This record gives sequence, C-alpha cells and structure tokens, in this order.
Amino acid sequence: MMSPYSIVSASALLASLLLTPVSAQLHSDCNPMKEDCPPDPALGAAHTFNFNSTPPMGVFNTTAGTIKYDKDTGAAFTINKQGESPTLTSNFYFFFGRTEVVMKAAPGQGIISSIVWKSDVLDEVDWEFLGTKPEEASSNYFGKDRRDNTNAGYHKVDGGVQADYHNYTSIWTKEKLEWFIDGKLIRTLLPDQANKTDNYPQTPMMLSIGIWAGGDPSLPQGTIDWAGGPTQFDKGPYTMYVKSARVEDFSKGTQYVYGDKSGKWDTIQIKEPEKESTAVENINRPPPEPEKSASEKWDELPSSTKNGVYAAAGGVFALGVIALLVYYLKQRSKGQKEAAAYAAAQEAERLELEQFRKEGRDPDALDYEATEYNPAAMGKGSSVTAYTAVPNDHDRSNSLSSLTGAPGQTAAWDPTSASGGPTGAMPLLAHDQEGASGPARSNTFDGHAPQSPSQYGHEPPRSLTQH
Ligand SMILES: *[C@@H]1O[C@H](CO)[C@@H](O)[C@H](O)[C@H]1NC(C)=O
Ligand SMILES: *[C@@H]1O[C@H](CO)[C@@H](O)[C@H](O)[C@H]1NC(C)=O
Ligand SMILES: *[C@@H]1O[C@H](CO)[C@@H](O)[C@H](O)[C@H]1NC(C)=O
Repeated sequence: MMSPYSIVSASALLASLLLTPVSAQLHSDCNPMKEDCPPDPALGAAHTFNFNSTPPMGVFNTTAGTIKYDKDTGAAFTINKQGESPTLTSNFYFFFGRTEVVMKAAPGQGIISSIVWKSDVLDEVDWEFLGTKPEEASSNYFGKDRRDNTNAGYHKVDGGVQADYHNYTSIWTKEKLEWFIDGKLIRTLLPDQANKTDNYPQTPMMLSIGIWAGGDPSLPQGTIDWAGGPTQFDKGPYTMYVKSARVEDFSKGTQYVYGDKSGKWDTIQIKEPEKESTAVENINRPPPEPEKSASEKWDELPSSTKNGVYAAAGGVFALGVIALLVYYLKQRSKGQKEAAAYAAAQEAERLELEQFRKEGRDPDALDYEATEYNPAAMGKGSSVTAYTAVPNDHDRSNSLSSLTGAPGQTAAWDPTSASGGPTGAMPLLAHDQEGASGPARSNTFDGHAPQSPSQYGHEPPRSLTQH
C-alpha cells in the first residue's frame, strides 16, 4: 500500500508549503462543535444522478450562476464573468459512503473545478482541478476545518483532466478513505495518519460540485497564487462538465444528529433507519408535469373517445366519398347518355347517307334536301347539339366547381387533413419543442446566487483569516 506522502511530489509539497491551498469554501450555517444544530437530512440510500437532464426537485441547491443540463455533455458549470461560481450542493448528507463523479475539468488560469464533501463541523474531502494544470487532479481532506497545507495529493491523469471525462471516485469508511481515478486507486488515507484520527473526516457530508475563480482579483494574493494566477474573465467563458454523480450513503436513516460537541463519528446518531428519507422521496417523485401539448392530450384520451372522434371524422369523410361517388355516377350516366345520343345521331346520319346513295342522290345537296328530310335534319341537329354542348353543359361546369370549391365538398375533406383529426398534430410538434427547451428545463435558483460569493470567492479563506 502506497503512502499518501509518496503521491505528493516534491514540487507540489514545496508549493503547498509556500502557498495556501484553498479548497472550495463552503460555510456551515451551524457548527455542532460550537452550538446545538438542527438534524442533517440523510440520503440513506444510493442513487446515480445523470445530468443529461435537470436533477429531481429539492435534491440539490444551485448557487451563484446557471447550470445547463444537456443530454450529450451533462451538466455545464460555466463562469461567464466575475462573481459567478455555479455550484450544485446536495440537500442531503451521507455518513460514510462513496461518490463517483464523471467529469471534465475547466481550463483557464485561476479557474478551479471541484468535487467537495463538506460536513457541518467542516470535515472535508476534495477533488480539485486547477485550470493551469490540464494533466493533474488533486486530492485533499481536512478535519474540523484545520487547514493543514500538507494534506493535498497531486495525481497525473492519463489523457488529461480537461481533454476528457474521467471517473473520480472516493470511498469512505471509518477504516479508510480512498481516492480512485478511472477505477485505479491513487490514494489511501488511514485515520491514524490524520492527526491520530482527530483530523480524519468522520462526520455526515454534503456533496458539492462546482467551478470557482480562485484567481478572482478580490481574493488574497496567496489564494490567487495557489489558483495559478489571476482569473482572466475576459478570456472566458470557462466551463466544467459533469456527466453523472453516483452517491452512496453507507448509513440508512432519515436524519443524522450530533450527539455532542466532539465531532467524532461514534457520537453521530442515525434516526429512523427503517424509513425512507426525504431525499429519496424527492428523487422518486415524478417530475412536475410540463404543459401538455394537444398531441399528448390526444394520446391520453381513452380509446373509446378516440374511436368516436375517428368515427366522426371518418363519417364526414365517408359522406364526402359518397357525394363524390354519386356525382361521378351521375356524370358517368350522363356521359353514357350523351355518348349514346351521339352514336345514335351518327348512326342516323350514316343511314341517311346510305339512303341518299341508294336513291342515287348527291349527299352534298343536303341543304336543299334538309328541308325535305326533316327527321334527318333533326337527328343531325340534335347530335351536333348534344356533342358540342358537353363541355359547356351548365350542370357539369357547376359540378366541377363544386369539386374544388363548393362548401359541401371542402367540409368533407378538411377534418381529416387539418383541425381536429388525428393527423392534425403537425403544428403541435413545434409546441413540444418549445416546451422541451423552455425555461422549466434549466435548473436555476437565482434567488440563492448571493450566497455563493461568500462561500467561495469573497470570503477570505479560513486559513488566512486565522493567520
Ligand atoms: C438549499 O436551499 C434551501 C432553500 O433556500 C435552504 O433552506 C437550504 O438550507 C439549502 N441547502 C443547502 C445545503 O445549502
Ligand atoms: C467509477 O470507478 C469506480 C471505482 O473503481 C467504479 O466502481 C465505478 O463503477 C466507476 N463508475 C463509473 C460511472 O464509471
Ligand atoms: C490535532 O488534534 C488535536 C486535538 O486532538 C488538536 O488540538 C490539534 O490542533 C490538531 N493538530 C493539527 C495539526 O491539526
């Protein structure tokens, strides 16, 4: 088993002695080593949060900026300008346990990406990534806010911490604390190695994931130096991406309560081990219903209702078809009659001409003969009338216009192609997309934004305030 000190390179050790390491500064509203505090809400379970979408309501608080959730990149924590340090902090605690965070650190001088566990007595377990160290992760811990500069470990990460996502896992029991990168154990801390157990992290922890500007010019010079130099806000934005975070609470309960002011693990009481925690209830609660689109409402209709609508639409459609059929048949029979009349006239003419020939008369003398042969003239006339009248037939031209424009026919077609029918969903797709990318999806709690600068940026690091 490698010693934690072998991990700390000589230069890093030197740097950590000269500079002041500042982990993300989370403040505790109530320190149970100083006063009586409300119980800590427990997770009491294991859950993987996939940040391809907004996490369940009430499980995390978002502070000091906006976190965007994306199906491909996961949660994006972005610093756009000075004062921003978007951070996701669990509303639950775990009492011994493990976290697996799959993330890609942000580049940038004076930019710190971080995964932090923090307890009410300011025990702390960290992963930190300096924007100026694209190949390096650092591990750290603190006991009871005792800011020991020699606690940090520095670890080279194959492939680089900013170039790709890596799995940063920490496993914590009362026997040991382990840090893994992509499944490889890179550091172990035993309680005895931490000020004879007194500085060993041993109280219920919150998980906090965030990005902050350690090089904010408003911070003390020691902090800025530790962070790699002043943050160049005009060269941003700087983004850290987190795909997922699995959290396992090794205890099962609804609350953790400090039994005294010692800050020792064996004084922590675990409440209601048989019950489900509020965190688990929040995780399991179905997300609030987004505004339903008409197509979704359609999908939810009972099938009997849908069948009724289909039948009604189908009925209208059928009426249209019947009307067309009747029209067509009428036209057909009319055409047949016309054709028959024309044929009859032709035949009459033929017979007539035949008659002329039989009688040895000149067919070109018809005009003369016409008056003489009334029936033939009438037959010829009627045939011509019947033939030429077809395109101009009054009824027919009316009927043709009714095909394209008459109200009866239009009504027959419309319900199936536009409003009301099942195929009327097209315009609603746009509505769906609007809903999906709408403001409901971006999990911002702007109301808490003022909290964060005091957590990170504007509050001088504790170690400095003590000196
Ligand atoms: C989260 O926000 C709620 C509501 O503002 C607050 O009561 C709670 O203390 C916050 N939790 C943490 C861990 O900051
Ligand atoms: C991360 O690494 C841990 C420790 O090796 C492993 O148990 C876990 O399955 C990994 N998780 C992911 C999401 O890759
Ligand atoms: C070690 O623990 C003792 C309490 O047992 C404390 O007084 C002391 O300050 C701690 N030392 C360091 C270096 O943290």
